[in-house]
Amino acid sequence: MGPRIGVIGSNMMDLVTYGARMPRRGETLAADSFAIGHGGKGANQAIAAARLGSDVVMVTKVGDDSFADQQIQNFRANGVSTAHVGRVAGVSSGVAPIFVDHAGENAILIVKGANDHLAPADVDAAAEALSTCRLILLQMEVPAETVYHAIAFGRARGIEVLLNPAPAAADLDVEKIRDADFLVPNETELAILSGMPVSGAAEVEAAARSLIAKGIKTVIVTMGSRGALLVTAEAVRPVAPVKVDPVDTTGAGDAFIGAFAHFYAGGDSVEAALGQAARYAALSITRRGTQASYLTAEAFRAAAAD
Ligand code: RIB
Ligand code: NA
Repeated sequence: MGPRIGVIGSNMMDLVTYGARMPRRGETLAADSFAIGHGGKGANQAIAAARLGSDVVMVTKVGDDSFADQQIQNFRANGVSTAHVGRVAGVSSGVAPIFVDHAGENAILIVKGANDHLAPADVDAAAEALSTCRLILLQMEVPAETVYHAIAFGRARGIEVLLNPAPAAADLDVEKIRDADFLVPNETELAILSGMPVSGAAEVEAAARSLIAKGIKTVIVTMGSRGALLVTAEAVRPVAPVKVDPVDTTGAGDAFIGAFAHFYAGGDSVEAALGQAARYAALSITRRGTQASYLTAEAFRAAAAD
């Protein structure tokens, strides 16, 4: 059995259109192709870790539609525990209409649906399963109250907690997330959380340090094709980017976090786990889709040996 990881977060069906550009208001435009895939930041991180061999428990909510069954089936097919996947009557499952252009860059709309019903009580109901986890992963596609509660839960039980503050939300209360062990924002999220500018390496570092000063132990800033920056009270270390030709960057940040969680919870140092995460995420952007582009442990080892 691999390391045990808990994910308290979202699941979405990704409805992905590939094309040259988005239509303007009032315009009808033909695009290249379309695909439906499994997504949602929480589920993505869970599936990445599970494909690498982690033993993952997912705490999430699906709605009252055919997507709900597909999501549960997808967790099962990937060996993720669904004991704490709840169903909400009369509400849609989470969906994400996504547009991906020829450069592999995306624009994403999210409809949270059932994810908006994941409550603090759902964390408590999963307490037994979560209490044996080495690490708990959180994102912001479920209510903030649930995220705050999960951070306090991890703190009370001595379980490390990683918060990916995505998508960026200006109303996220920094005081309530200071007990997170790891905070993994991108530059936009870092700017919003810190209230500081982030153009250039010195500003990114200063903004990350301001969050360390508030009590967060480790800040990992993801910077896309420029790699990542690890900031703690003691050290600042760049994580080198892994250069690839992008096909579809959707979910690359989630691949990074899921892989980091797997390797870190499995006993790697933070630095070593970040190196693996950067390689895993880079490989995901060379392939179409979100979870569809996440490699298994075997395929990842084979790709790394190339
Ligand atoms: O981070 C990528 C994810 O964001 C997509 O899978 C989409 O569902 C949205 O949650
Ligand atoms: Na991809």
